[in-house]
Amino acid sequence: MGSEGYFRGLVEFSNECIFDCSYCGIRKSNTAVERYCLSKDEIIETALWCARQGYGSIVLQSGQQSNREFIELIVGGVQQIKQRSRSSVLPHGLGITLSVGEQSKETYRRFFDAGAHRYLLRVETTAKELFEKFHGPEKTLQRRVTCLETMKKTGFQVGTGVMIGLPGQTLNDLANDILFFKDIDADMIGMGPYLVHHETPMNGYRDEIAERKNEIFQLSLNMIAATRIALKDVNIAATTALQTIDQKGREMGLMYGANVIMPQATPRHVRNKYLLYDGKPCVDESAADCAACLEQRIAATGRAIAWNSWGDPCHFFTRTGNQD
Ligand code: 5AD
Repeated sequence: MGSEGYFRGLVEFSNECIFDCSYCGIRKSNTAVERYCLSKDEIIETALWCARQGYGSIVLQSGQQSNREFIELIVGGVQQIKQRSRSSVLPHGLGITLSVGEQSKETYRRFFDAGAHRYLLRVETTAKELFEKFHGPEKTLQRRVTCLETMKKTGFQVGTGVMIGLPGQTLNDLANDILFFKDIDADMIGMGPYLVHHETPMNGYRDEIAERKNEIFQLSLNMIAATRIALKDVNIAATTALQTIDQKGREMGLMYGANVIMPQATPRHVRNKYLLYDGKPCVDESAADCAACLEQRIAATGRAIAWNSWGDPCHFFTRTGNQD
């Protein structure tokens, strides 16, 4: 994949969610969270700020909803971001990745037609009992897999991934996760350690997870390395969750085989409301500080950043036979 690292400005545009995943800090039942949804204009302004920073690509991420208003916000936002981010350095506008959960085939199609060309949907774990235990009956592993297949058929570059260190998860489960990434022919992988959020039913695992902290961190890095070796030409993110355990977590992720980093671009007035787990870093920094900090972190690993580039994974072009 070369030595360059790719940036994706991360815009967490809404923490509203209709689901109740037991690990997640913004699960529906967490009434301690103040809910927000950025306006279309705010989303567009944030995206254009990313373009001006030279990020080349953004990720629009949120809790999961499927109501009309939510879908229209994304479709309209994506269309306008594509139009308004075109420039001499970005002739096709920003690359847009969506990370807004399970949606219908028609919705995926609308998102794609609006101009988003990548989609992230982590499978979270491919161990069926664990998946069921942490999601309850309203979500199924089968539906996740169907969604990933549908996204691929729609034309998206498709990303998935898992949480590492979930209570009860075995090394065998993680090895199976990597085989799943290969089977589903994923273009992008995002993985990170499971971290406890105190307002979730999994808070009871706090001590166990705290004790295993170093092991889970190393396991997360090893997962990146093993996934790089097994999948080769995909994009792999050095996720923020890594940095929660170790100050240098994201640099370490890059050293172990990741090539994507997601600078925080969420407007500061809502950033501390998008807390999926406790201890999330960069919550108080301004977006500009995050950009400068990450640039230094990448430079420290001896890697360069590909500015104003979409940074698409080679795998997508090999998989689809499209050499553009
Ligand atoms: N710890 C680590 N990662 C989490 N995610 C959600 N909750 C947690 C948590 N408590 C991850 C999930 C989701 C992604 C957006 O964030 O894998 O897909």
